[in-house]
Amino acid sequence: MSETLASEDRRKLDSDDDARFYRQPRFVHHTDDAFRARLTDLYYERLPAGGSLLDLMSSHVSHLPADLEFDRVVGHGMNEAELRENPHLDDFFVRDLNREPDLPLDDGSFDAATIAVSAQYLQYPEAVFAELRRALRPNGIAIVSFSNRCFPTKAIRAWRDASMDGRADLVRRYFDAAGGFGENEVIRERPGNDPFYAVVARRVAGD
Ligand SMILES: C[S@@+](CC[C@H](N)C(=O)[O-])C[C@H]1O[C@@H](n2cnc3c(N)ncnc32)[C@H](O)[C@@H]1O
Repeated sequence: MSETLASEDRRKLDSDDDARFYRQPRFVHHTDDAFRARLTDLYYERLPAGGSLLDLMSSHVSHLPADLEFDRVVGHGMNEAELRENPHLDDFFVRDLNREPDLPLDDGSFDAATIAVSAQYLQYPEAVFAELRRALRPNGIAIVSFSNRCFPTKAIRAWRDASMDGRADLVRRYFDAAGGFGENEVIRERPGNDPFYAVVARRVAGD
């Protein structure tokens, strides 16, 4: 796994413990209605019905289509109260990935993984994406979406300084650095006020 970010790229303006920042639950939406509707549509188009799904960096919402059934949905986040309110989750765990980037999940146990509007907060994304690859089955799909909004004090410098296309490149590099993912696809749209970006990749079969 190659180093994708220099140490200064990983810095946040607020270097205080992330757990403290996320201690209070936030039952809010982080993007506009049109962005969220487009994300739900993309999930409908790409996520495998009947499969097992990991929603990493989740909250009280997972943006999953109401009419798409999964065998199992596992969520991860920073605030237990938010995750408890998420109607899609069968199970969840809380973990600060900037302190512990490994995932307490079995190898090859998911058909799909999502990270919605959160990748900007990862200081060691190469390690987290490598864990994502490990937790996915061969051919499993990963969808990382983002817009131009964030908690600026908690986003890493590389993200803050990048253009929207530069952010897509960062996410592509995270997949490349993790290894074991095939060609990735960047989706760029403007469904409403908030730009809609998603990077989609699949774990290579047999890797
Ligand atoms: C803007 S919210 C997005 C939540 C949800 N995915 C959504 O679409 O509304 C950012 C999320 O990133 C996650 N997060 C932030 N910092 C983190 C960290 N250090 N370790 C793990 N997850 C973190 C938390 O789950 C937090 O809820």
